[in-house]
Amino acid sequence: MARLVIVSNRVPVSSKREQAGGLAVVLEEALKGEVLWFGWSGKRTSQTSVKPTFATRGTTTFATIDLSEDDYQLYYAGFSNRSLWPLFHYRTGLVAYSREHYKGYRATNRKFAGALIPLLRPGDTLWIHDYHLIPLGRALRDEGVDLKMGYFLHIPFPPLSVFDILPPAAEFAVDLAAYDVIGFQTAEDRDNFLGCAGKLLTGAQRAHALSAAVALPVGIDARAFARMAKTSRMNAESLRLKDSLVGRRLIIGADRLDYSKGLPQRFEAYSELLETHAEYREKVSYLQVAPRSREEVSEYRELKRSLDRLTGRINGKYAEFDWVPLRYMTHGLSRKLLAGFFRMAAIGLVTPLRDGMNLVAMEYVAAQDEQDPGVLILSRFAGAAASLDAALIVNPYDPGGIAEAMHQALTMSLEERQERWRSLMHRIEEDSAASWCRRFLARLNAPSKTLRAAS
Ligand code: F6P
Repeated sequence: MARLVIVSNRVPVSSKREQAGGLAVVLEEALKGEVLWFGWSGKRTSQTSVKPTFATRGTTTFATIDLSEDDYQLYYAGFSNRSLWPLFHYRTGLVAYSREHYKGYRATNRKFAGALIPLLRPGDTLWIHDYHLIPLGRALRDEGVDLKMGYFLHIPFPPLSVFDILPPAAEFAVDLAAYDVIGFQTAEDRDNFLGCAGKLLTGAQRAHALSAAVALPVGIDARAFARMAKTSRMNAESLRLKDSLVGRRLIIGADRLDYSKGLPQRFEAYSELLETHAEYREKVSYLQVAPRSREEVSEYRELKRSLDRLTGRINGKYAEFDWVPLRYMTHGLSRKLLAGFFRMAAIGLVTPLRDGMNLVAMEYVAAQDEQDPGVLILSRFAGAAASLDAALIVNPYDPGGIAEAMHQALTMSLEERQERWRSLMHRIEEDSAASWCRRFLARLNAPSKTLRAAS
């Protein structure tokens, strides 16, 4: 069996896999066989390392390199998170393009290539992930690497009118055409890419890109998450949360503190629910877990300030001496703890303004007690909405609509909750993490229909 070489910016070599969702968790749960997993160590040092550090767990070898402070600022904080992230999430007003960041992003991708090449063996299959590493495949090909190479984008891919705002848009289309398979989360993302490739590429490169693009939604290991939720509902923290609710119904949200997650609108929606449906005051508690993220980027700091203010306003207005309506925390909880908390919650709020897939939505469903399941309220702009249509689907820009959905969820009959849950769980079990991996790799290892164009 050929060795699989995975390349991603983050590598789950240590406790990072503790966080909810995320590529690291999905891949680690789904992969079997010999794997080399290469990427950034998460460490910032004076020099970007030329030689990786190795660690082994089971049949997976992790090889990681440190990034210099400069490369971190240009490649990660700069171009990845100030240009690509907002652009790919349709937030053109937040795009801050700088030629210096872009140059640093490309140079760091070449450094990844330089450190990876000595580790490659004939017959390896490469699978490169996410927006940080779009040019890596072409950088490897330029150095003579002629292995099968697949790419998967975990975040949305915008339509041409948005993508084309990026000054080097055409160059990115050429980068993507260097892969044998180009994977996207949804048919909409794939079609957006097809529109861009059709316009920005020509000749054989264009023909290859058009035939190599596939929509393959990421999933989770639902059974494992359900088991975790079942066992962790009895642990000390879950019991403490239950006691603290004193019979009130729990509404839960768990998202990185990111402007794509629609948190201010969600807080406004909760405030509107308490305002227009006074019967829920002192009867519900909303817990929002929002671990701080990418704090070197000013938009993230500004978002935190506005959520701090909103929390103060909501709690100041509605709290009673023995009831805090909104519990908002900006540090993360382990997946295990969250699994137990999800199981307790009458509503799971997942309302991103735009999201590649959103695995938290699936985890919330998987965690439920099938006899008495909670209700998932899901943004129509999360990739997960394409398959989880039995959730209450909302427009995340409309706090009034989210408030109405919360009211609907809180008054929904047990029969309807069970029916919706069964349908959601069926979809989640079908589109599992393992089947996503298998299907992607089967496609990558299938005899190619078109010749990959020379870069
Ligand atoms: O959603 C894309 C993604 O790269 C995930 O794989 C990851 O969980 C998340 O963003 C975290 O971002 P960062 O690596 O910047 O902390």
